[in-house]
Amino acid sequence: MTSVSGIMPTGRLTLGNHLGALRRFTDPHGFYFVANLHAMTMRHVPRRLAELTRETATLMLAAGSPEGTVFVQSEVPAHVQLGYLLECTSYVGELSRMIQYKEKGRDKPMTRVSLFTYPCLMAADILLYGTDRVPVGDDQDQHVELARDVAIRFNREYGETFVVPELAKAAYATRIKDLQTPTAKMSKSDVDDAIGTIRLLDPPDVIRRQVMKAVTDSENVVRYDPSGKPGVTNLLEILAACTDGDPEELAKGYQGYGELKTDVADAVLSVIEPLQRQYAVLASDPATVDAMLAAGRDRAIEASAPLLRSATTAMGLGTGR
Ligand code: TYM
Repeated sequence: MTSVSGIMPTGRLTLGNHLGALRRFTDPHGFYFVANLHAMTMRHVPRRLAELTRETATLMLAAGSPEGTVFVQSEVPAHVQLGYLLECTSYVGELSRMIQYKEKGRDKPMTRVSLFTYPCLMAADILLYGTDRVPVGDDQDQHVELARDVAIRFNREYGETFVVPELAKAAYATRIKDLQTPTAKMSKSDVDDAIGTIRLLDPPDVIRRQVMKAVTDSENVVRYDPSGKPGVTNLLEILAACTDGDPEELAKGYQGYGELKTDVADAVLSVIEPLQRQYAVLASDPATVDAMLAAGRDRAIEASAPLLRSATTAMGLGTGR
């Protein structure tokens, strides 16, 4: 079993990105990429896109297996090429039902066309390497589901070509919430200094303070209760994800919120600090990062070629010889 996954460079990565996705990019045969083409589906600033692409790629290299393939999506043209073929395999009806498009773009005249076709490019990302697992947080379910539908349809209409992938969900932490608004997802596109968002590269003392300030409730009873106690439940999920525990079991060990928050801060830092150390080593050696990304690009170009060729031929492109 091998896996493929991407992260958009639309903000500085968060604890949510790490627990839901990044820390699971460990398959030595996996393909992990910075989805910079997807980052252009909303208004973007070119310089910031380039900076965030590098930061995200370096974090992926720091977090992943040394043998894994890490690359930048735009450097492997097969993504766009297969994306177009899949636009010719998808329907306006199904793309119009995508939650992301409905929330961010529908009925707005300045919506980029690429926001609408976003799921086709993502399906290409997912299908291009013949992998069978997609480690993502649960906000990506509908996109992975669409990729599966498109693969099944393609195979039926043009002959068996793609592996139909599975979602690969973590046991917990599939949707880490914002520490100040625990009903909303922790999101990297929030303003840079939002105190409810833990950024992976922020100084440890800042991160500890953010955890200690997390919104809970006035009951001071630690209990796992997603609808009744969203703040406390989010802290328990973070603790469980960072310590490989079970949030309901962990809840039993606490008398009050202060104690819980201290343990959450320790657990979060025990996950983030080694990542920051590895990041610092790489960031201080740009030539090595360039070489790793170039090697990743070359491996991805080579690995994607056969499926792109099969899909192209199956659809009747070429001159028929
Ligand atoms: P993106 O960039 O929004 O998020 C990257 C990954 O982080 C996960 N994630 C979270 N997990 C738990 N809790 C959170 N609060 C949280 N916030 C984000 C996301 O689920 C995701 O796994 N469309 C994708 C990028 C993409 C992709 C792909 C992913 C492009 N092509 C192909 C997989 C396969 C996205 O916008 O992720």
